[in-house]
Amino acid sequence: MIDSGNSNQESLREATIAVLGLGHVGLPTALGFAELGREVVGADGDPSKVALIRAGQVPFFEPGLSELLSKHLKSGRFRPVEDVDAAVRSASILFICVGTPQREDGQADLTQVEAVAQVVARNLNGYKLIVEKSTVPAITAQWLKRTILRYSNGKAAVVTPAANEGTANHFDSHLEAGVSAANFEVASNPEFLQEGRAVENFFHPDRVVCGVESARAREILTEIYRPLPCPLVITTVSTAEITKHAANAFLATKISFINMVADLCEKLGADVAGVARGIGLDSRIGPDFFNPGIGFGGYCFPKDLRAFMHLAQEHGLEFSLLKEVERVNLQRVEVFIRKVRQALWVLQGKTIGILGLAFKPGTDDVREAPSLKIVQALLEEGGILRMYDPQGMPNAQQVFPEAPGRITYCTSAYDAARGAHALLLLTEWEEFRRLDLIRLRDLMELPVLVDGRNLYDPGAARQAGFEYVSVGRDGATNLALHSPVETRVA
Ligand code: UGA
Repeated sequence: MIDSGNSNQESLREATIAVLGLGHVGLPTALGFAELGREVVGADGDPSKVALIRAGQVPFFEPGLSELLSKHLKSGRFRPVEDVDAAVRSASILFICVGTPQREDGQADLTQVEAVAQVVARNLNGYKLIVEKSTVPAITAQWLKRTILRYSNGKAAVVTPAANEGTANHFDSHLEAGVSAANFEVASNPEFLQEGRAVENFFHPDRVVCGVESARAREILTEIYRPLPCPLVITTVSTAEITKHAANAFLATKISFINMVADLCEKLGADVAGVARGIGLDSRIGPDFFNPGIGFGGYCFPKDLRAFMHLAQEHGLEFSLLKEVERVNLQRVEVFIRKVRQALWVLQGKTIGILGLAFKPGTDDVREAPSLKIVQALLEEGGILRMYDPQGMPNAQQVFPEAPGRITYCTSAYDAARGAHALLLLTEWEEFRRLDLIRLRDLMELPVLVDGRNLYDPGAARQAGFEYVSVGRDGATNLALHSPVETRVA
């Protein structure tokens, strides 16, 4: 708790943080704060999840997270609890990290955010800074305020910027001034963590964005993030909310752009890897998120794109550029299936090995994974599937249960290749890069490799005896010069 007895800096450092929601965002965030030396209460309304976490088990796969969890369960700086009300009472800084799934019409479903606001409202026992970390539309802060005021039975008052400015000791000043002990304010601190790299991203972010409405909120968030070596961008709340949506929408745009360039490269006998390198070295463009393939998936890009378009539409703007980004992405599955058909002709009755089910490497998450859409399409065409993913199989099994003679989950990539007429690479796991291609080929009925992520070097794959198909590189006529070669100009 922040109390008026300490100096301002000490109050800031000692203030307990509550992280509400312990999913892919909340758990890495909570443990990241604990590692930065903060006292953190992590709350989640799902008692079985909390029990698992308390027992030192991370409920999903995220590299480096279980080490941090055991470290901070031991240090006592991270306390997982299922009582969200108690967590709110115990802390002055609340990070909202609950899910914001997508509704049928593309809007973000803010049910869980509203529920948290109600919990906050009934547990206001002093100043609270309520920080949105979940991805939310740009009007959410207003709704949070309204909801807390509504449900607090007149106990709460929103801190106004004017009440905070012009003093170095904001906590103490507001308490000393006798302002209601149930004051609160809302800030936005969007997360940019990537699944599979969340721990690394937390400690080495490109930037931290904080949308605040008062000097006090700015000071609290600046103090929390002070140890991180990156620019801190302080904005208004709605600017921060939009920054999050715009970042994801822009990255998704880059992916759809390079996917279209890849298709054009195929038609013209060019190599998309060379194009991506050639444009990515332009510092105005940048090299990342230029890997073409089967398209983007996961819990964030597809849903955030739709929510951003919906938000624009609600405010009278047609963000048609993003509609096209989505359309191009949805087409990727068909573009890929066409490649498989071109390689195998009839799919009915063919055994197809699948390497990779997770929506990207480093995670067990299969939500909106393009790989699962491909699996669905292959099943509809009568394919017999042998599937393997290092982490994603338990989640994939929830969607496509094992079915003898149709769907087999395998013990390794080699097992998936056994007797296959084609092998499809759908997630670029590092362990797939290191496979012995000759051994793989020898296990197969036909040596067909369709690489949906451009993981392999075309020359090496063909040298291993594969009929090799990839994305945006197959039209290139001179295979020896397939990979872009760089030389320095003196
Ligand atoms: C994304 C953003 O990158 C994070 O900054 C953000 O915090 C997060 O969403 C979120 O909103 O919570 P994430 O969904 O974990 O992170 O995964 P990404 O690494 O961005 O990949 C998204 C999808 O794009 C994957 O399916 C991946 O395979 C695909 N992708 C990525 C490509 O097809 N090509 C690329 O060059 C890069």
